[in-house]
Amino acid sequence: MKKIGILGTGSELPERIIPNSYFEKIVDTTNEWIVTRTGIQTRRMIQPGQALSDLAVPASEKALEMAGISPEKLDMIIVGTCSGDMLTPSCACIIQHRLGAKKAVAFDINAACPGFIYGLSVAQKFMQDGSCHHALVVGGEIVSNRIDYKDRATCVLFGDGAGAVVLGHSSRNGDGEILSVDIQSDGDLWKLIHLSGGGSRFPPSQKMLDEGLHYLKMQGNEVFKYAVRTMVEAAHRAMKSEGITAEEIDWFIPHQANIRIMDTVAERLRIPKEKVIVTVHKYGNTSAASIPTALDEGVRGGKIQRGDLILTSSFGAGLTWGSALFRY
Ligand code: ACO
Repeated sequence: MKKIGILGTGSELPERIIPNSYFEKIVDTTNEWIVTRTGIQTRRMIQPGQALSDLAVPASEKALEMAGISPEKLDMIIVGTCSGDMLTPSCACIIQHRLGAKKAVAFDINAACPGFIYGLSVAQKFMQDGSCHHALVVGGEIVSNRIDYKDRATCVLFGDGAGAVVLGHSSRNGDGEILSVDIQSDGDLWKLIHLSGGGSRFPPSQKMLDEGLHYLKMQGNEVFKYAVRTMVEAAHRAMKSEGITAEEIDWFIPHQANIRIMDTVAERLRIPKEKVIVTVHKYGNTSAASIPTALDEGVRGGKIQRGDLILTSSFGAGLTWGSALFRY
């Protein structure tokens, strides 16, 4: 089977920085509670009128530029997101249009936070048989206009962002290689995190708005337990399938949901803190964007070098979870 590597990375975060003090004015919370319970100090939010493709297109352009690939060479565009510009068409088609990636097939994957890992998994399958040569995989989310600013348990957690990678067949040693991607889901747990308004069960109506169904609902402390268990399990499966041990991992990029979840997962995997890439303090939980934006920061900041062994792990609404192991 053909080797597939990451040729370029890119990310885009909104310019608007929202500190914890913003929430102190609108809900019963404190900076101290948010920092100690989540690790979040600030998050980024789009301006009114902006949409996901406004972040995803520049993130993709940066990844394409690093890869040295023109948009016309893309065979596939996959976007992991639950918050595309519109319900239909897919955000991937909007990105295809804005990039001018004429020959790509473009589609979204709705798998919440692990959407980027799900995207890697699908792209890998299409590329392994050689039918697809270059794929753009994006993870992006606009959560800021889907949260209830009266619900202190959710509104402080999230931020907006987009990250992207360009995948190609590894031809040289320095091209890196995706070694293993493990994805799973358990629909029995769908109620733990959901956003029901605007779908076919609760279509747009005044009643839907009055009941606040257009906002994200989450049972945070229940999710916390599943998050730790599933992220550890997925990471173990990805490492086991390649015969890799935790000591060999150069960098661990967990889903940036909550520093306490990230610390616990790293500890259970026996990965030291110095090897964990952390952005949650700056960006909050950006859902599907959290891993590709952290990866891009690691690469562009000079932490992650060609040849490094990277482990990622994520979980989210569905429930869904997954892990990707690759050599950058
Ligand atoms: N400020 C002050 N108090 C708060 C706040 C707040 N912002 N939010 C909740 N509390 C209170 C609760 O009301 C509760 O009060 P009570 O004891 O009087 O009832 C108390 O704090 C403890 O609440 P818990 O929910 O048990 O707090 P916990 O320590 O679990 O932290 C949190 C809550 C941060 C939500 C945590 O559970 C968490 O991070 N869970 C994971 C959520 C997540 O990462 N989801 C990602 C998936 S989202 C997606 O896929 C789109």
